[in-house]
Amino acid sequence: MNINLIAPGVSYVGVDDRRKILFENLWPIPRGVSYNSYLVEGTEATALIDSVEVTEIGDLVKHISQNSASGALHYLVVNHMEPDHSGGIPELLRIYPELKIVGNNKTLEMCQGFYGVPADRMMEIKDGQILDLGGKTLQFFMTPMVHWPETMMTWLEADGILFSGDAFGGFGALNGNPLDENQDVSPFFEEIYRYYACIVAKYGRFVQNALKKVGNLSITTICPTHCLIWRKHLKEVVDLYSRLSSWTPEKGTVIVYGTMYGNTSSMAEYLGNKVAELTGAPVKIHAASYETMADILADCVRYENIIIGTPTYSMELFPVIEALMRALTVREIKNKKLCVFSSYTWAPGAAMRRFDYYAEQMKMPILARAEMMQHRLDDCKQQLDAIAQALV
Ligand SMILES: Cc1cc2nc3c(=O)[nH]c(=O)nc-3n(C[C@H](O)[C@H](O)[C@H](O)COP(=O)(O)O)c2cc1C
Ligand SMILES: [Fe+2]
Ligand SMILES: [Fe+2]
Repeated sequence: MNINLIAPGVSYVGVDDRRKILFENLWPIPRGVSYNSYLVEGTEATALIDSVEVTEIGDLVKHISQNSASGALHYLVVNHMEPDHSGGIPELLRIYPELKIVGNNKTLEMCQGFYGVPADRMMEIKDGQILDLGGKTLQFFMTPMVHWPETMMTWLEADGILFSGDAFGGFGALNGNPLDENQDVSPFFEEIYRYYACIVAKYGRFVQNALKKVGNLSITTICPTHCLIWRKHLKEVVDLYSRLSSWTPEKGTVIVYGTMYGNTSSMAEYLGNKVAELTGAPVKIHAASYETMADILADCVRYENIIIGTPTYSMELFPVIEALMRALTVREIKNKKLCVFSSYTWAPGAAMRRFDYYAEQMKMPILARAEMMQHRLDDCKQQLDAIAQALV
């Protein structure tokens, strides 16, 4: 049995990247990432759906020749133009002289702009249009802003396969088997939270639109551009994306704090203990200076309660906490119970004013707050207890 065969005439030909340190030169990917690409062979023509980052093009071409019956490639369907899926386009056009890029008008405009692809190597399709490969028809659905304006999904009705682009994706290179069967999928679900929080979270309402648009197709298999092919766990992954994109939180609390000398830490530790006691739900404590923004955002997106703490730093928030507040604001985070705490030596209220500024930007009330002068923990325990109480 060929483990890369998803259905008759449909193969996984993607590649794993275990060398890249930072995705988008920004987000740590300790488990790597996969760039998924799929070969669909009809009796008349062969299409490649999505391609890979330019550095991985050699492996993609090798996988195509290993899995293709004819060796020919007629169409490259570009569901998404971000260079992690499009960087290899110039090389593919050179290797396969018959190859035409298939995309919507925005895709083709970007193809021209990024790679100078000439008009005679491109074919424009519109929403709902069908491309017949002979026995296999591809239908295209525009799903803008999941995660760029040109993003679309491709539907292979004969096999119930949805090629979903970045939607339903996650970080993490694959472990030999591209399908979500006969393997431990739990690390991939962890990576979905990180990927969603870092890459997709700002576009939640567009994910919701896309879910509605493809919601009545009889999908048996989802082939995203990153992470596993979803079949056995399809419902779980759709439910998770549906929950995340509608900002439906899980029970639990994330406490994120910055500290230079440990004063703010003692507030965080006290709070962690109290919140765990009163809520009886998971608490995750992140020290922002040495944990990654990706892990912190993942838990902020995931859990119901967010408590953020900072030392006062030149009358402002501690820089990593400032960055976090900005990242949450950009993501238009919703449906959270937000509380804050700070410590100061001589300027009460300075950090709180900054928190209030962000709360206003986020249109999210601060439910409770605590301020500690120097290390007078006993003096502020009542305020900290009130934070824990506000989350019950
Ligand atoms: C670089 C620096 C800047 C600071 N700026 C302020 C400030 O503007 N206002 C203030 O009240 N305290 C300021 N502090 C004092 C700290 O906010 C205060 O001691 C706090 O408790 C430190 O918390 P930590 O031990 O968690 O780092 C500053 C401290 C440092 C090291
Ligand atoms: Fe993307
Ligand atoms: Fe991507």
